[in-house]
Amino acid sequence: MTENDLDVHRSTEDVTEALRADVKAGLTATRKWLPPKWFYDARGSELFEAITALPEYYPTRAEREILNREAGEIARITGAHTLVELGSGSSEKTRLLLDALTDHGTLGSFVPLDVSESALADATESIAAAYPKLIVKGVVGDFTEHLDLLPGEQPRLVAFLGGTIGNFLPAERAKFLSSVRDVLEPGEWLLIGTDLVKDRETLERAYHDAAGVTADFNRNVLRVINARLGADFAVDEFRHESYWDAESEWIEMRLRATRDMRVRIPAAELEVTFAEGEYIRTEISAKFRSGGIGSELAAAGFATERWWTDAENRYGVTLARSARE
Ligand code: SAH
Ligand code: AVI
Repeated sequence: MTENDLDVHRSTEDVTEALRADVKAGLTATRKWLPPKWFYDARGSELFEAITALPEYYPTRAEREILNREAGEIARITGAHTLVELGSGSSEKTRLLLDALTDHGTLGSFVPLDVSESALADATESIAAAYPKLIVKGVVGDFTEHLDLLPGEQPRLVAFLGGTIGNFLPAERAKFLSSVRDVLEPGEWLLIGTDLVKDRETLERAYHDAAGVTADFNRNVLRVINARLGADFAVDEFRHESYWDAESEWIEMRLRATRDMRVRIPAAELEVTFAEGEYIRTEISAKFRSGGIGSELAAAGFATERWWTDAENRYGVTLARSARE
């Protein structure tokens, strides 16, 4: 691998096999579900970027506000030589960290990791051009599987931004945090963004915008299954919904069948029936309470060093240190 290129950890066949397994598990379950990572082909990544600019979708702006205010402090505390970013997408907000760590004089390399090759290729190209002295090593991979492959001089700062931690179920979240801690040496750093619990209306609107961009993003998972597995989902006949589950404290995105349907998925050797009104849960987006992620981080072996919110208390960012030998 040369400098500033992409390291691809999965072949097209591996990705198709993983999708086939997830589709079989999720669409044969009594309550149908699909994992959210399958939204993100090139179109899905573009739709996510469009979501971040929507008036209803506040998390990106709130997180940017915090990073803008605190990036200098993060650089001072961590003195990171390597910035690793998991689920990096466009890495737009990450530039605030790159700027601060560059000004601090410690940063040598940036390692973004994402399942979306197109998003990663765009991001690494523009970041390498904007930061010519930085070594940029993009990794196309899955952050639930490929953490042990992350290069970089220590101390490393692992950034997990955007509230993506909320897209895990609680048990998956605990496993993920432990796996991040396992690849870090004691004293290395994790910076994690979490959206916070708030009123139902604000939350449901953030996931059901007036322009219909989130609906398009949600339906994209069906387009991905059609393209990769030769399925015949009638994509537009699934209605997008966002639902705040106040007990679990997460938003659910759903795709609800508007009529009885039979869907063929040849590459998974599967035929799936939908009754009118039946839905697929396509994503959860868990919301946290002030300090809530701190106890989960502690259980995984991290000590919280700082916790910041935006001025309106909508969103939190935690800086934690890997504490266990
Ligand atoms: N961090 C960016 C993007 C968030 S969107 C931001 O804050 O705006 C979530 C990103 O995580 C997408 O780019 C998606 O492709 C990536 N992603 C989702 N599941 C993933 C997985 N299992 N492994 C690696 N990347 C994943
Ligand atoms: C990437 N992730 C944190 C986003 C979220 O808010 O859960 C994905 C998203 N889904 C709908 N809109 C945005």
